[in-house]
Amino acid sequence: MHIFIAFLHHLAAFGLVSALVAELALLQLSFSQEVAKKIRAFDALYGACAGLIVLMGALRVMYFEKAPDYYLHSAPFLLKMGLFALVGLISLYPTIVFLKWGASLKAGALPPLSAGQRQNLLRILALELFGVLGIILAAVLMAKGVQI
Ligand code: HEM
Repeated sequence: MHIFIAFLHHLAAFGLVSALVAELALLQLSFSQEVAKKIRAFDALYGACAGLIVLMGALRVMYFEKAPDYYLHSAPFLLKMGLFALVGLISLYPTIVFLKWGASLKAGALPPLSAGQRQNLLRILALELFGVLGIILAAVLMAKGVQI
């Protein structure tokens, strides 16, 4: 069972990175209703992966790996949780923007997207990717018992 849970944790992590990269690439194309719909679909995938990561991660902490006490005393684990919360927090902005596009798309119109807003979205998505890089490094350190 613990192998399956670990597999799902990794799968969701790769899925989350793929969704972020897809959103970054799509946002650089010329903007259309089709592009907006695809970005919203990838953001839904991003949300689903984040949910699965937390669920599988919590199960691993509580039941399937080292004891919870190990993780609570691991600085890389706490760093990983902090970075995860930070990435989640900054991802609220793109998600809210993409959700707001829903009304225009439903009416068959192109959602509003200024050049400045597109730049902000690209910056935030890139920052999220850097945050995930840090999370992966922290994950390896905590798994190997390295203290920082
Ligand atoms: C974007 C978010 C996350 C990513 C990319 C990620 C990635 C990873 C990776 C790559 C590993 C394997 C490390 C290794 O074996 O070398 C791992 C292990 C693990 N992760 Fe995550 N993780 C994320 C979020 C979380 C969260 C939110 C939790 C807890 C609630 C969590 C708990 C764990 C645990 C317990 C392990 C097992 C470590 C061990 O073998 O002792 N992860 N994670």
